[in-house]
Amino acid sequence: MGHEHDLSSGLPIPLGWYAVAYSKDLEPKDVQAVSIFGQELVLFRTESGQAQLMEPYCPHLGAHLGHGGKVVGEAIACPFHAWEIDTAGGVQKIPYAKNMPKRATEGPCLHTFPMQELNQMIWAWYHPNKEAPSFDIQEVAEFSDPSWSELDTYEWEINTCLQESGENAVDIAHFVYVHGTHEMPQATVTLDGAHRSTDMVTSSPAIDEDGNIDMTKMEDMHLVTQNFGPGMALQVFARAFKTVMMATMVPIDADRIKLRFAFTKPNDISEQFNMFTDVLIEEIVRQVGHDIPIWENKIYRDNPILCDGDGPIAKYRKWFKQFYAEEDEGQTTTTPLRAVK
Ligand code: FES
Ligand SMILES: [Fe+2]
Repeated sequence: MGHEHDLSSGLPIPLGWYAVAYSKDLEPKDVQAVSIFGQELVLFRTESGQAQLMEPYCPHLGAHLGHGGKVVGEAIACPFHAWEIDTAGGVQKIPYAKNMPKRATEGPCLHTFPMQELNQMIWAWYHPNKEAPSFDIQEVAEFSDPSWSELDTYEWEINTCLQESGENAVDIAHFVYVHGTHEMPQATVTLDGAHRSTDMVTSSPAIDEDGNIDMTKMEDMHLVTQNFGPGMALQVFARAFKTVMMATMVPIDADRIKLRFAFTKPNDISEQFNMFTDVLIEEIVRQVGHDIPIWENKIYRDNPILCDGDGPIAKYRKWFKQFYAEEDEGQTTTTPLRAVK
């Protein structure tokens, strides 16, 4: 709060696959209350290992399953009267009822999110009208390869929206003025449905197989960023930098995001390459710190004045529009967030 101006973008929460947690942070039988997508939700893992994100308010008398709920087999038992809700949102058992109430047998009582678990993360599909997934996220081989390191992770909560933070990748001029890049990179953007690929070229000193740098010889360095919807970006670094980075973004609400970076490196790289790679990771993390105060204090301009050096910002925004669904009229789509006191 504390702002004189309303800095909300007015943009809705985009539909998409969102990484809601690292897999390792949710053990079997764990139950967590989470606030994302502008809603209160419950995330739990069953005894057999299925992770499920679900509407949290018990169909009985409305207790929050994320506050004291307990996993029982493949269901979660409510903390209030122990009704058991399964991963499809149905009432599986009422321990003290002689007869199941009719409404409890007519199908799911609570909304459950389509889930996937890959790249060491738990993903949930968000759609404002609860429609089924319309695209896929990408499996990253390095994230399940034992010859690659454990993830090196970083995270931030930032007062901005997904469209605005994602615009960074195509906003060429800001690399010079915000991040101190020496020259304006060249960027080519390729769009294919929910997939977007940005190839950024800068020239940098030549480097050989052993990591020796030749300052007298400049080469083109390509950095390809791939986006799978609004919630996942992937960067595979090459040459001096032996790392793969997955960035995930999840909307806490329409104007606040959680940004996570996860890096992995091959276990068997030389000390030289390891050092280069660590410097790169440090620099990438540092750059987020440059962006945050800009994002948190800016307004969203729907119709900005753009110039020829700006990079494909308009193209990016047009691509991003596909993630804004028309909200169905008259359907109550979300459980409202608890009022902030
Ligand atoms: S409120 Fe959940 S069992 Fe009664
Ligand atoms: Fe940036």
